[in-house]
Amino acid sequence: MIYLDNSATTKPYKEVLETYVTVSEQYFGNPSSLHSLGLEAEKVLTKSREVVAKLLGVQSKEVIFTSGGTEGNNLAIKGIALEHSSRGKHLITSVIEHASSYETFSELEKKGFEVTYLPVNQSGHISIEELKRALRSDTVLVSLIHVNNETGAAQPIEEIGKVLKEYPKVFFHVDHVQGITKVPVHLKNNHIDLCTISGHKFHGVKGTGALYVREGITLSPMLHGGVQEARFRAGTENVPGMAALAKALRMSTDKAQERKDHLIQLQQKAVNGLQEIDGVVVNSGIGDRHAPHIVNFSIPGAKPEVIIQALSHQQVYVSTKSACSSKLSSPSRILMEMGLGNKRAESAIRISFSYDTKNEEIEAFIKVMKKEVPKLLQVMR
Ligand SMILES: Cc1ncc(COP(=O)(O)O)c(C=O)c1O
Repeated sequence: MIYLDNSATTKPYKEVLETYVTVSEQYFGNPSSLHSLGLEAEKVLTKSREVVAKLLGVQSKEVIFTSGGTEGNNLAIKGIALEHSSRGKHLITSVIEHASSYETFSELEKKGFEVTYLPVNQSGHISIEELKRALRSDTVLVSLIHVNNETGAAQPIEEIGKVLKEYPKVFFHVDHVQGITKVPVHLKNNHIDLCTISGHKFHGVKGTGALYVREGITLSPMLHGGVQEARFRAGTENVPGMAALAKALRMSTDKAQERKDHLIQLQQKAVNGLQEIDGVVVNSGIGDRHAPHIVNFSIPGAKPEVIIQALSHQQVYVSTKSACSSKLSSPSRILMEMGLGNKRAESAIRISFSYDTKNEEIEAFIKVMKKEVPKLLQVMR
């Protein structure tokens, strides 16, 4: 099997699953219970929070555990907008956000908020000048995706942070779901107030994640009830899931240190190979302004499902667009916003790597593509 869909989800590490099972069996108490089983479970939760906080370079009390990226983005965006609406109702984001942010902003527009959607250029980047122009006295939030999940384009978080430092009343939220462990971002040095991560994108288990909320910031909770997670997120905590999240983050961070250049090499190899195939156009870039684990390409005029099925028959797994929108037949919103046109946006395919992807797997993928694409083009003609 050649799995090249790591931006959709990653395979959990064996050690992560072992942690999940051990904690589920041995620390099954409710962390809110006052007896010793409850206290032991609470200790595991506290330790997991400390590990995640240390790896993110923040304080433990600034880590709110969630069920993943969608919840983190909803909590950050709605949480800030609703809590601070008396200060202003203007919000800034971009046209290339993940659906979990984009649709949240659409909902807020229906509730009377005004949203500025920053456009992107052909490489998928916003303009700092346009961001500066968009900021107003009633702006309360700038929320941006760091690494785009379809193209890998990485927004210049440091430069954006520098701009926002001059606007201390504007909260800055970063959707770091695709960036974490692939494109490092220093949360404290870059004026970031809130940051979303999701465990299943770095070999954790599904339904786990965290939202960094800078000390002192208040949010309107999405779930009301108990006092868990600093009252920002009521509900009995997913103790085994959070222990697994901490383990996965530690293991993936170590891997990133050891194998820094590996993803860059895989990406270069994939792009070189794809560029040799007639009928294939590469949509994503490489280099400093792009994450190293994503390559996006099109076969203009072709239906991407056909190539995906052909590859799948040979146990090569790739994606159209993002996993959550891949069942929609519309062209990629992201590629359309980049101005790449309908034909490329309709036929886009994404491959995405993990630190465990092997060179030989990319070679095998290119070999299959060289066999399948001409067949596909022949049928189309
Ligand atoms: C950039 C980005 N943000 C948010 C999400 C949502 O994360 P989750 O699947 O954990 O809800 C994803 C998932 O693909 C993503 O790629």
